[in-house]
Amino acid sequence: MREVKIDTTPARLDFIQSASGLILALFMWAHMFFVSTILLGKDVMYKVTIFFEGHYFFGESYPLIVTIVAGAIFAIFIAHAAVAMRKLPSNYKQYKILKNHIQSFKHGDTRLWFWQIFTGFAMFFLGSVHLYIIMTNSADIGPYASSDRIVSEWMWPLYILLLLAVELHGSIGLYRLALKWGWFEGTDAKKSRIKLRRMKYAITIFFLTLGFLTLAAYIKIGIEHKANAGERYHLETSVVEGVK
Ligand code: HEM
Repeated sequence: MREVKIDTTPARLDFIQSASGLILALFMWAHMFFVSTILLGKDVMYKVTIFFEGHYFFGESYPLIVTIVAGAIFAIFIAHAAVAMRKLPSNYKQYKILKNHIQSFKHGDTRLWFWQIFTGFAMFFLGSVHLYIIMTNSADIGPYASSDRIVSEWMWPLYILLLLAVELHGSIGLYRLALKWGWFEGTDAKKSRIKLRRMKYAITIFFLTLGFLTLAAYIKIGIEHKANAGERYHLETSVVEGVK
């Protein structure tokens, strides 16, 4: 009997897409909490920054650690985009068919899928700019350095768009992952889909609110610090040995 060979590549690509998406979405939640520590004060954000530079382990700061982590995230980001590309319409005809389909179908989850494609495409550019800048300027993160980048170096328009794209993309992605792999399915699939949808909206609203409040805090500091842009932050009280 002739052996039938099954091509497992599509399933593998799907798995890579799901796994990389999950890692990036969970990373983004943690990232938003770390970045938002500015809302608790400049000192708190400063201490979080030097924590990630290894200051509390090595006694001095190594921004190279942040470069390496950002490089690893960038690699996952590129892998995720590369496998996701096969889902994008590749010419105008395909795009038109997709659009007509969405309009005639009037199916909420299909519409969400369109938004995921749209925000994913935007992030090819927006996410890459941010990651490259952070990777190559990892020593310039902190209450003043970040605020100066946002105001004096004009990153705020990019962050507004990136924040919208990443929060919509991430929460739609997690919702679709949960449906696909049957997480939290319970006994009634219809009911759990409604519950998941509610959770998705709540998560989007929570992170968008946190994100915009955070951005507003950096913008306020950036405007106040404009005349001294480039100057670095120092702790008021020398709590951290050798950091002042
Ligand atoms: C290890 C990787 C990353 C590091 C170290 C990092 C670090 C930072 C830092 C320090 C800020 C504050 C502003 C600044 O200093 O310029 C920031 C803001 C931001 N980052 Fe990242 N980031 C990373 C990855 C990402 C990724 C992968 C995305 C999305 C694709 C992202 C999206 C954003 C957004 C939207 C903001 C603005 C947030 C706000 O103000 O509410 N970041 N990031």
